[in-house]
This record gives sequence, C-alpha cells and structure tokens, in this order.
Amino acid sequence: MTVLVTGGAGYIGAHVVRLLQEAGRPVVVVDDLSTGDEGRLGGAPLVRMDLSAADAPARLGSVFDEHEVDAVIHFAAKKEVGVSVERPTWYYRQNVGGLTNLLDAVEAAGVRDVVFSSSAAVYGMPDISRVDEDAETLPINPYGETKLVGEWMLRDASRAGRLRVAALRYFNVAGAGWDDLGDPVALNLVTIVLDRLHRGLRPLVYGDDYPTVDGTGVRDYVHVLDLARAHLAVLDRLGEVDEPFEAFNVGTGHGASVLQVVREVERAAGVSIEPELVARRPGDPAELVADASKIQRVAGWRAEYGLEQIIDSAVRADRFRRSR
Ligand code: WQD
Repeated sequence: MTVLVTGGAGYIGAHVVRLLQEAGRPVVVVDDLSTGDEGRLGGAPLVRMDLSAADAPARLGSVFDEHEVDAVIHFAAKKEVGVSVERPTWYYRQNVGGLTNLLDAVEAAGVRDVVFSSSAAVYGMPDISRVDEDAETLPINPYGETKLVGEWMLRDASRAGRLRVAALRYFNVAGAGWDDLGDPVALNLVTIVLDRLHRGLRPLVYGDDYPTVDGTGVRDYVHVLDLARAHLAVLDRLGEVDEPFEAFNVGTGHGASVLQVVREVERAAGVSIEPELVARRPGDPAELVADASKIQRVAGWRAEYGLEQIIDSAVRADRFRRSR
C-alpha cells in the first residue's frame, strides 16, 4: 500500500510526504530535484528522475514493482506562468509529456488511484468572482493550458480503463505546515512580498482600481497544510466517488485583497510596509475565490486555517530558512 508522490521534494509535495509519514503510510518519491530539495523528505525513499525523459515509463515501472505502489499523487511539473508564455513547447513537454509517461506506467502497472495537481489557472479570467467546478475552463496562458490538458488526459484515461482520478484545482497556496517546508521561491504574492522586504524593496501592488473591497486584486489564499490534507482526503474517498474522474476546487471560499495580505505581513513580521502602486498586471482577474463546497461534500475536507495563520506560518518559515 505505497503511495508514489511525484514532485515530493517540492513545496507542496513535501507537505504531503510528511503527512503520509506521520500517518505511517509507506511512500516513495520521484523527483528530478530541478527545484525540489532532498532535505525536505525526512528519509523517504527518493528515485531521481525526469518524468519527461524517454526512459521514464520503464523506470517508473520498476518503481511501481519494487515499492508495490497502488496510488499516485502527481505534483512534478513546472509552474512559472511567465516561462510558459516564453517557452510553450518546452512547457508542454514538461507538464503534458511528464504526465503522459506517468500514465503509460500507471496503466501498465494496473495502478488505480491518481490524484492530480491542477490549478485555478484552468479557469482563466472568469467573469464571475466565485467559481465552482462547472465554471467554464478557459485558461489564458500555456501553464493553465497544460493543467487543463492534463485533466482531459486523466478524464479520458479514467473513462477508458479502471483509473480513478481526482484533480485538485489549487487556488492561491501559501504558508508552511512546518518551518523547514516553507516556499523558498518568490513566485507568488506572499513570498514575493517577503523577498522584497529582505532586499529592502517596497512590495508592488498591481493596480488599485479593480471593483473589489479596496481596489486591489482579491484571491483565495489556502494554507499549504490544508491543501496537503485535501490530497489525503480525496485519495481515501476515491473508491466512493461516482465518476471515475472528478475535479475539485481547493480553497477556503474567502477572498483577501493584496492590501490585506500586505497588512498581515506587516503585523506578522512586525515591520511597517509602504507598498508601491504600479500598473495592473495583464491577465489578472479582479477577484477569484473558490466555491469549495464540492470537496467538502464528497471528501469531507474544508480549510481549517485563515489568512492570519497562513501569513504567520509563512513569516516563521521564511525566518527559519534565512537563519540556516
Ligand atoms: C496574487 C494577487 C496579483 C505579486 C498565479 C497563477 C496560478 C498559481 C498561483 C502556480 C494578484 C497581486 C502579485 C505582486 C501584486 N500558479 N500581486 N504584487 O496570479 O492569482 O495566480 O499563481 O503556481 O496558476 O496564475 O497569484 O500570487 O501572482 O497574485 O499586487 O508583487 O497579487 O495582481 O491580484 P495569481 P499571484
């Protein structure tokens, strides 16, 4: 009963690995360590491999055999939206090619249960602020497109065979469940703000004339530990789900504005911050908040943490990382 976690050395994957370890469940990690860190794995077995490489299906087959894998949680993927616009073909090779190889091996080994790391980016710029899973999927960049294509591949494979799949559409993930598992890369608002503070720079606010509570962009920030728990919750319920493929939003159902996030960082870090207003960033919806009632109904999951705890934990993990 081993769970294979691809990308288990990454920010979110490592949280899932640690939860599995705490639950006493056998786990094996596949990661190319391109952005991951073996130090996060707490001794979990690691097979270093690039899932998009030609020999990946065969190598995965050996991992499935050797570890008696019966479920897969697939995180290994690229996530920089900007790079996906500059290098779309490479992006498709990484995210869609990697998943294709994984699916080949999953089908050959007869593994049944797959949880897929998807994204709210599949919705693009919806004209509604609160989206449920039936909202139109119209991604606006190759990153979001690779996530949607991944969902389609898994949906079709699950209909054709015996796979059972849950795709989790993450909203804005932040925070740290353990101080040593913070996100070291400044790619999202919370980590960008912390990074700029350390460099003595003012955080940038991309536009303050949106039709939102204070004019700045509103997102649904979800604690990475809550998100990690969602993976285990859906994995445990896959057998009871009606459809072989289901997509689930993972968010809190509550929105926070850029300025509210900045104020929380100010409080948690004990510094005063004067953000700098700049132009809107193209492609940013004003407000994107999850209707997360489906995952609560089907898997009994709901977020336990709010913005304050997310930011507290992010600041703590950031301090911990810089003190090492
Ligand atoms: C949040 C809000 C910005 C930086 C993206 C991807 C998504 C997922 C998460 C995966 C927005 C504003 C940001 C800054 C700002 N990707 N902002 N100043 O755009 O909601 O989602 O990241 O890993 O697929 O699309 O997240 O954190 O970039 O922005 O004002 O310096 O913060 O305009 O309103 P986003 P984000």
